Amino acid sequence: MSTAGKVIKCRAAVLWEPGAPLNIEEIDVAPPKAKEVRVRMVAAGICGTDIKSLDDKNLGPFCPIIMGHEGTGIVESVGEGVSTVKTGDKVIILCLPQCGECNTCLNSKNNICKETRLSGTHLTSEDNSRITCKGKIVYQYIATGTFSEYIVIREISIAKVDEDALLEKACIIGCGFATGFGAAINSAKVSPGSTCAVFGLGGVGLSVIIGCKAAGATRIIAVDINKDKFAKAKTVGATECIDPRDFEKPIQKVLFDMMNDGVDFTFEVTGNPETVANALASCHKDHGVCVIVGSLASWIQLNINSQLFFSGRTLKGSVLGGWKTKDEIPKLVSDYTAKKFNLDPLITHTLTLDKVNEAVQLMKNGQCIRCILLP
Ligand code: APR
Ligand code: ZN
Ligand code: ZN
Repeated sequence: MSTAGKVIKCRAAVLWEPGAPLNIEEIDVAPPKAKEVRVRMVAAGICGTDIKSLDDKNLGPFCPIIMGHEGTGIVESVGEGVSTVKTGDKVIILCLPQCGECNTCLNSKNNICKETRLSGTHLTSEDNSRITCKGKIVYQYIATGTFSEYIVIREISIAKVDEDALLEKACIIGCGFATGFGAAINSAKVSPGSTCAVFGLGGVGLSVIIGCKAAGATRIIAVDINKDKFAKAKTVGATECIDPRDFEKPIQKVLFDMMNDGVDFTFEVTGNPETVANALASCHKDHGVCVIVGSLASWIQLNINSQLFFSGRTLKGSVLGGWKTKDEIPKLVSDYTAKKFNLDPLITHTLTLDKVNEAVQLMKNGQCIRCILLP
């Protein structure tokens, strides 16, 4: 029997206050309105940003909130005026939308669509949510909220993927993989035969390594303070792995000397301000490019010595790997299906949604790269 036009009762992982565990709650998901789509979720990935946000006091005003921003699913029904997807289509959730109409979307060099909710309301529309729990409005993290059996989401925040897409794994392409892979390919534009250093070997850092390798880098140095991450880094393409704590001199000096005036491309993928400065100082003094991939809290000021720029270095940002999401993320999904790259080593755990707190703990303890949640 069709559920279209009816409220769907289902389960979701809800955060009631920052720092609290997630609760599996019964929620009511109303039908989608104009330009919105209701999706039955098939899989969701847990990203480092979800983990940080769970304890972030700034999320307080947006509680109760369904966490999660990586996901794949199948369209259950669509609202008025939706033209790019239909019931039954396989889709990937885009935590960075592409409206196709704003100044950013109309400029081929940009990707941070003006409709983004990356910092903001956590609502799918300006003023409301289609989801309620115990009579209260439920927000959706970054206007996505993928840790749920069903969600309503804006059409600009989903993209249709191929019929043969492997939804259970491809969900991590929506944020973690695209962010890292694109940072190497689009933001740094890693060149064949170059040297790269990647600071931080979580799901995003490993995806940077996959991107550096795909771009033809010949030396890829993986840097982490947790040596347990090294084996996986080698599997996905790192040529060397180093722990800054094993050296007397600072890591930037180690890399700078090791690579004869610095590494061609360096990537900060830990979310630490000190690591940004270290990654910048490690890159080649004249032509080195350092990309900040990890997310830094908004109040953080970077402390960078001016002399690092008395040369030709470049320091740049990158959001969601620079991809035009609605156009390009589905292509990444097709490339994954076609085995042009392998992201399977990134997925270390798969749990059911009701085990979400276990998954959070695995991430917090550094035991897990990516955990997939299945409803
Ligand atoms: N030097 C080197 N590595 C470090 C350091 C440091 N000072 N501090 C932390 N790390 C390593 C951790 O040991 C871990 O392996 O960085 C890695 C970070 O991985 P995750 O926490 O799994 O994060 P990930 O999902 O990969 O995201 C990376 O991007 O989206 C953001 O908020 C996210 O800032 C985070 C970053
Ligand atoms: Zn736009
Ligand atoms: Zn993410």
